[in-house]
Amino acid sequence: MSTAQTRRIGDVILSLNNISLAFGGVKALTDISFDVRQHEIRAIIGPNGAGKSSMLNVINGVYHPQQGEIIFRGKPRRGMNTYEAARSGIARTFQNIALFKGMTVLDNIMAGRTLRMKSNFLMQALRFGPAEREEIAHRMKVEEIIDFLEIQHIRKTPVGQLPYGLQKRVDLARALAMEPEILLLDEPMAGMNVEEKQDMCRFILDVNDQFGTTVVLIEHDMGVVMDISDRVVVLDYGKKIGDGTPDEVRGNEEVIRAYLGGEKVAA
Ligand SMILES: Nc1ncnc2c1ncn2[C@@H]1O[C@H](COP(=O)(O)OP(=O)(O)OP(=O)(O)O)[C@@H](O)[C@H]1O
Ligand SMILES: [Mg+2]
Repeated sequence: MSTAQTRRIGDVILSLNNISLAFGGVKALTDISFDVRQHEIRAIIGPNGAGKSSMLNVINGVYHPQQGEIIFRGKPRRGMNTYEAARSGIARTFQNIALFKGMTVLDNIMAGRTLRMKSNFLMQALRFGPAEREEIAHRMKVEEIIDFLEIQHIRKTPVGQLPYGLQKRVDLARALAMEPEILLLDEPMAGMNVEEKQDMCRFILDVNDQFGTTVVLIEHDMGVVMDISDRVVVLDYGKKIGDGTPDEVRGNEEVIRAYLGGEKVAA
């Protein structure tokens, strides 16, 4: 397993500048700025309701902030919806798994692939020459991801019949099928046992390493965050209260006070 220190981190690929987002009177995010560098694993932490999921929703175009600017690959990004965000290379998994429960693992991952498909649905349905060739190429990519995440044995199983930990892994597979440049993971290890968490950590590190994917990760398990992230943003009540390496954040008085209720962050 590679450590954060041995991996090469590149230039800034995504900047969030002075982002504010409110739902009526609720200020979910207040003047948040941070950036994400190519190839890094960037964690977002904070107590419940801190604004972490809202931040990911801003990045992938679910929510449009009232204030602030998003720069992706050097260009300001305005009013981008989720589809455009996905096409531009930003994929995500959700806090509450968003898979088609009645469909098989394979079909769910293929569904994640549709963004990459050039021929339209009619051509696909009629299995026109180009569509058929394209489908074979996509199938190969999907099979590669299935091998990578070690889920061959469940490829024909309906997702709803799988234990939660495996559903989370299928959700990751679906996101990876888009071959994203940035992968947004909202609590990918929530509800998992220790062994499942270790597996998920390894997969995230392997994806980052082997595909070069930049990862933005929300996670409550401090051990995981300290282990696998390069830099950490800390949110509290919609405000940024810390930003730096795991060690810097761990030693930050405000973070210790606000987020941990006075307890030191366990390594
Ligand atoms: N669609 C929405 N409509 C109204 N309020 C919302 C909406 N989404 C989030 N909020 C509010 O914004 C704040 C931040 O919520 P968010 O889900 O981003 O927090 P979080 O850090 O992800 O929390 P958790 O750790 O519980 O997942 C909360 O007060 C929440 O109630
Ligand atoms: Mg959340």
